[in-house]
Amino acid sequence: MRPKQELCAIYAASELASIMRDIIVLCLLALVAGASACTCKSMKWANCEENPCTCTLLVGNAVKQPINCDQLIPKCFLMKAEMYRARNNLSTRSFGGKPVETAFVDNDGIYDPDCESDGRFKAIQCNNTETCWCVNSAGVRRTDKADKNLKCEPVETYWVRLELKHKDQPTPLDLTQLRTGIENTFLSRYAINKTFVDKVEYDPNGRMIVVDLKKPMGDRTVDLPRLSYYLEKDVKILPLFKEQTGFSVGVNGNPVEMENILVYYVDEKAPTFTMSKLTGGVIAVIVVVILILLIGLLILFFAKRKEQAKYSKAQPREMETMS
Ligand SMILES: *[C@@H]1O[C@H](CO)[C@@H](O)[C@H](O)[C@H]1NC(C)=O
Ligand SMILES: *[C@@H]1O[C@H](CO)[C@@H](O)[C@H](O)[C@H]1NC(C)=O
Ligand SMILES: *[C@@H]1O[C@H](CO)[C@@H](O)[C@H](O)[C@H]1NC(C)=O
Repeated sequence: MRPKQELCAIYAASELASIMRDIIVLCLLALVAGASACTCKSMKWANCEENPCTCTLLVGNAVKQPINCDQLIPKCFLMKAEMYRARNNLSTRSFGGKPVETAFVDNDGIYDPDCESDGRFKAIQCNNTETCWCVNSAGVRRTDKADKNLKCEPVETYWVRLELKHKDQPTPLDLTQLRTGIENTFLSRYAINKTFVDKVEYDPNGRMIVVDLKKPMGDRTVDLPRLSYYLEKDVKILPLFKEQTGFSVGVNGNPVEMENILVYYVDEKAPTFTMSKLTGGVIAVIVVVILILLIGLLILFFAKRKEQAKYSKAQPREMETMS
């Protein structure tokens, strides 16, 4: 009897030990898994907390904006975070042309935006001052600046043109392979379906790639400016992603890196601001026309005077002969 009991006890103890070990192993695994699962893939400046895993972005003094790290973060939140970091000396470094006449580029750069709770830009922006202006869904100014009483309506950017310049390549790229590479990279990196890649053009001499991302007017399911903002950072500064893998487009198995990018925005409604470049051009034309007129008048004036001088010199001689 005794040996059996003892055996049982030993068996139970060893069983208990193994169960305990299993539990500890499971707990450790869960901890490790939990720790690695709760990070923010799409935003390197995010702070994440466990149980449940929630991530926030600091966008002001003690203002924590909750964010969804399973997708690209709205540009409005990103700009707010960047302004906050700049104010607090935190690191933020971490052939084309216009597609249509109404397309425009962002000449103002970054400001401290007001965001809706879902991350959309408020239609009116004032940068914490008395001067306000209307923006499109990319947060880019589309009217002249005015005072706080300015009336703005939400206007969607449905088309962005990305003008990319790639770094030196030993051989020119093949357009079809380039397009496939762009579509694949945009899908894997920014989760955008290739159905939105409307057009890809390539100028090998200028090393210029033009990508038109376009969605149907009225579509509110995709946010193209969000993608272009991530791409701008990828090309010009450093990735916004937690994983700091550099941006490159795989063309025929070779990674092609970019050295510059310019973004044009096309809205569902044309912007109403006085285009400063256009005004400059008009002024230049007016100045040239006035100059030509002045020179013409001067030439006429001197020609006339010369003629008159001839006439008045000839007169005395005529008089002499007369007399
Ligand atoms: C940031 O740095 C500048 C100069 O480096 C300094 O003048 C300023 O006080 C700093 N601001 C903060 C909030 O630390
Ligand atoms: C917004 O305000 C900041 C700081 O006051 C300034 O540096 C920036 O140029 C302003 N941006 C615009 C677009 O007005
Ligand atoms: C892209 O969109 C098309 C049509 O909307 C759909 O059929 C396709 O499955 C989508 N592809 C991906 C990878 O989401």
